Amino acid sequence: MAYAQIVGWGYAVPARVLTNFDLEKMVDTSDEWIRTRTGISERRIAGPKESTSTLATRAAQNALQVADLSPGRVDLVIVATSTPDYPVPSVASLVQDSIGASRAGAFDVNAACSGFIYALAVASGLISSGLYETILIIGADTLSRIVDWTDRSTCVLFGDGAGALLLRRSESPTGLRSCVLGSDGSGVSSLLIPAGGSRNPLTPEHLQNRQNTIKMKGSEVYRFAISTIVQATRQALDAAGMRVDDIDLFIPHQANIRIIQAAARALDIPDEKVFSNVHRYGNTSAASIPIALCEAIESGRVRVGANLALVGFGAGLSWGAAIVQWGVDTTPVPIAWWKSVLRNLHSREAMVRSFALRTQRRLDALRRLNGIHGV
Ligand code: UT7
Repeated sequence: MAYAQIVGWGYAVPARVLTNFDLEKMVDTSDEWIRTRTGISERRIAGPKESTSTLATRAAQNALQVADLSPGRVDLVIVATSTPDYPVPSVASLVQDSIGASRAGAFDVNAACSGFIYALAVASGLISSGLYETILIIGADTLSRIVDWTDRSTCVLFGDGAGALLLRRSESPTGLRSCVLGSDGSGVSSLLIPAGGSRNPLTPEHLQNRQNTIKMKGSEVYRFAISTIVQATRQALDAAGMRVDDIDLFIPHQANIRIIQAAARALDIPDEKVFSNVHRYGNTSAASIPIALCEAIESGRVRVGANLALVGFGAGLSWGAAIVQWGVDTTPVPIAWWKSVLRNLHSREAMVRSFALRTQRRLDALRRLNGIHGV
């Protein structure tokens, strides 16, 4: 039997910090309201040169570094996102190119804030089935680009970031132990972007009414979130043959500290087993679980043999819960100087390779245009 072991992890967030006090100057809100209703103090906002794919690329490079693996060994790149750089192509294709994963296939998964659990399930299945050996999964979103910055009920909630895991085939029985994926599409209107897709292509009116931004019925999603986290976690535990006591660390989607605490209370999970960083990043959608997992690792809370419960929920409505058994040492290893040089070379090689391929395409197009074949 083959297992999908997590061997690399990494995350990336923009440098720009937007605090609640900054938001006080933009909309009719207060630091006090945001902190008491959500637990959020600040969030990161992508700069003009950043996008979902640039954050995803940095997270992916960090995960490859931890795993000490060259990008040429990656078989498949899966990006969970609902804020792609373009409607087409996928963010995964952009990441595949920018990290130089020249042998890899690439596709995106859109299950909103639950997306990372879906990507984890798909990647683990493809590895256990024997189809692939090494898969990079990334949760990445830049919600700041699709938020209505005049709507106080949503703009205070979201932030940007990316988190990545590298999965490799292993004989060791670790990685995904069980998984529950769910959807209730009747809840579409609870959280959606009404215009800009095939049902309502963008018009000047839509833009004027900001129908191309997130619309959310916050209290509906709030109620759905708590009951869903509780139910999905219990189902995933049952499927793994485990009990709540077996969870070493609970890492739910970081949307609101009140949701996290209410769900943990209902499940009877003590505070010391709950991880949250929502105060520093807000809701980063598909990126929130992998960023939280990386920070949990950094703070020494993930050890070999630990059982992690990861739970996501969001637009769809959709949800996903996964029980993961951790299998590798997380002690940071100092990187030898020559490895840093090699890594730098890899990343430059990826840029040169991409540039050469793009130039080749342009030249081919020019030749066709001029009818000068074979030059
Ligand atoms: O990733 C998954 C997606 N999203 C979520 O998980 C979000 C789930 N929902 C929530 O986290 C919460 O419902 C919110 C944080 C969005 C809202 O908290 P709430 O306790 O459910 O507040 P509410 O929507 O019931 O609004 C209470 C009041 C309203 O005023 P009135 O009608 O009582 O006078 C709002 O207009 O708070 C007002 N309000 C604000 N006031 C100051 C809403 N947003 C703000 C704001 N600042 N930013």
